[in-house]
Amino acid sequence: METALLSPVTAAYLQLEDQYGAHNYHPLPVVLEKGEGVFLWDVEGKRYYDFLSGYSAVNQGHCHPRIIESLVNQAKKLTLTSRAFHNNLLGQYEQFIATYFGYDKVLPMNTGVEGGETAIKLARRWAYTKKGVEENKAKIIFAEGNFWGRTLAAISSSTDPSSYHQFGPFMPGFELVPYNDLITLEKALQDPNVAAFMVEPIQGEAGVVIPDEGYLTKVRALCTQYNVLFIADEIQTGLARTGKMLACDHEGVRPDILILGKALSGGVLPVSAVLADDFIMMNIKPGEHGSTYGGNPLACAVAMSALTVIKEEKLVENAEAMGQLLRNELSKLNSPYIKTIRGKGLLNAIVINHPNPEAAWDLCLILKDKGLLAKPTHGDKIRFAPPLVINQEQILECVAIIAASLKDLS
Ligand SMILES: Cc1ncc(COP(=O)(O)O)c(C=O)c1O
Repeated sequence: METALLSPVTAAYLQLEDQYGAHNYHPLPVVLEKGEGVFLWDVEGKRYYDFLSGYSAVNQGHCHPRIIESLVNQAKKLTLTSRAFHNNLLGQYEQFIATYFGYDKVLPMNTGVEGGETAIKLARRWAYTKKGVEENKAKIIFAEGNFWGRTLAAISSSTDPSSYHQFGPFMPGFELVPYNDLITLEKALQDPNVAAFMVEPIQGEAGVVIPDEGYLTKVRALCTQYNVLFIADEIQTGLARTGKMLACDHEGVRPDILILGKALSGGVLPVSAVLADDFIMMNIKPGEHGSTYGGNPLACAVAMSALTVIKEEKLVENAEAMGQLLRNELSKLNSPYIKTIRGKGLLNAIVINHPNPEAAWDLCLILKDKGLLAKPTHGDKIRFAPPLVINQEQILECVAIIAASLKDLS
């Protein structure tokens, strides 16, 4: 562990994690202890702009007062019953979220990856009971470059060796097509055993990869044509992040199964949800799927607040406007070190142009020193995804920090 340039306080925290925690992450060397809105503070009192937002979990801003109030009030009353019993918030939450997104039903889970697993189980069950696929023959198609978590099923569809290497054997029944390639997709969907195509409307972890305009519209049409379910993984792209409530809304398409997570709790606790209509959802019977924590009253209270904040604070509109401003201002920098600026709403990335393969990491260290936290993905890409409550003045200040940091990159 490289601690030479760190203060003794920060170094001590890092040392503790290094010694007692598994080394399954490589964080930036900053130790955070407080968050409010778009800001984070480290243990030494230094303030930062958060340009990652917990991988888009903190869309509503850190410790949003209204969400925290719901958390605290509910925590004092009832937190978990399990689904062995009913609780007084579950039905209210189910009605709230199903109505909010226009689906018949919701299946509540906790993490994003559980949402993905749930969607796949729903699709397989639908294929066996409704489409007439012979048992154990159902296939799910994924796009290359996908990321939907770290379970064995999730890494079984991964094309990133750092996700799957030496973790096999893998889940059968998964197939891959290139992202943004409709011709290959159509060929794959013609197989009568295909239950679903599961896809991110914008690939977040891959580095904010945006498909051609019309891709989602055509995906919808092809899925309908070949009687295949369209599963949209909106765990990172959903909930106002891209300047629409859902990224699918950019093309006005409605997936058969919608997966939400992350900002569904405003970064407060793991809450995910899978939404679908009855012809899919009702194929799962009692005892066939679930989770101890899924649909717990604490999560229900927090999720209703988190969704209310998105609408009341007009985060969709703000994400769209601030995203435009951010990309415009970044492009004005004309930095030789920026190869590409891309994004929608406040889900943005720059691709670094530099002979040093570590340049994106180095830039993030400089940004940190100047008060902005961002993290590289896939080596040369840096995501710029602040909380959606950011304002114009703050965006301009952040662009100034980025400009100064690029100048310091050698
Ligand atoms: C698109 C997408 N799907 C699923 C997941 C997995 O979510 P979780 O880490 O909560 O399991 C992520 C996490 O980054 C994601 O970006």
